[in-house]
Amino acid sequence: MRIVLLGPQGAGKGTQAQRISREKGAKHISTGDLVRAEIKSGSELGQSIKDYNDRGDLVPDEIIIEMMKPYLDEADSWILDGFPRNESQAEALDRMLAEIEAELDAAVALEAPDDLLVERLSGRRTSEATGNIYHVEYDPLPEDSEEDPGPFVQREDDSEESIRRRLEVYHEQTEPLKGYYADRDILAQVDATQGISEVTDDILESVEKSP
Ligand code: AP5
Repeated sequence: MRIVLLGPQGAGKGTQAQRISREKGAKHISTGDLVRAEIKSGSELGQSIKDYNDRGDLVPDEIIIEMMKPYLDEADSWILDGFPRNESQAEALDRMLAEIEAELDAAVALEAPDDLLVERLSGRRTSEATGNIYHVEYDPLPEDSEEDPGPFVQREDDSEESIRRRLEVYHEQTEPLKGYYADRDILAQVDATQGISEVTDDILESVEKSP
């Protein structure tokens, strides 16, 4: 399985990538997680990209491409969550795939309206111990500390201002990628307003149907 998950912030890309990765053993490659880990490490690179992340702007393409490149090669089966995010990244992905003689099975676009997304993002909590994503109402935090000890934190870029900016950037730069993959007949669109398990089922079904 080699798939790209597209979709606006809060549509559930991370949630679905974690579930499919557990179920199918595909590697979950999240450029957002790579960015946050770099910032947390306190490295010079981390400091140079922190402002982009906090504002909700895209980190420059050349930095993101260098960061994620080694992971593509590491596994035969993967789910890309958060990459590509514009046409130049999509072209870079094509070049990287050609180098490793691999092809994309599908680009799955998770579809949901902006007003629902803001509600999802404001209730999101992430476990610092496991990286698992929860929602205070829709995907409640585990009470059993053996299952996940937490602590469960809110992401720094989940302020209202940053969410709005990330959605703007999504509509301007990332949404047009649906056309990029539709032209190759590998675009699948999934209704992400459904419950979490229904969305997973639809993604897996659409990947199976993909040519
Ligand atoms: P990133 O971490 O990718 O953040 P994002 O794009 O803003 O996406 P989110 O993680 O907010 O949304 P999601 O769709 O994964 O939602 P989730 O599953 O958590 O990127 C962060 C930053 O890094 C960027 O702003 C940028 O600066 C930089 N960056 C990353 N990649 C880059 C790139 N390629 N180029 C340049 N810069 C890059 O779900 C949200 C909530 O909803 C959760 O609480 C979840 O429990 C809940 N939920 C999910 N599905 C459902 C459902 N079906 N029903 C009810 N609740 C649900």
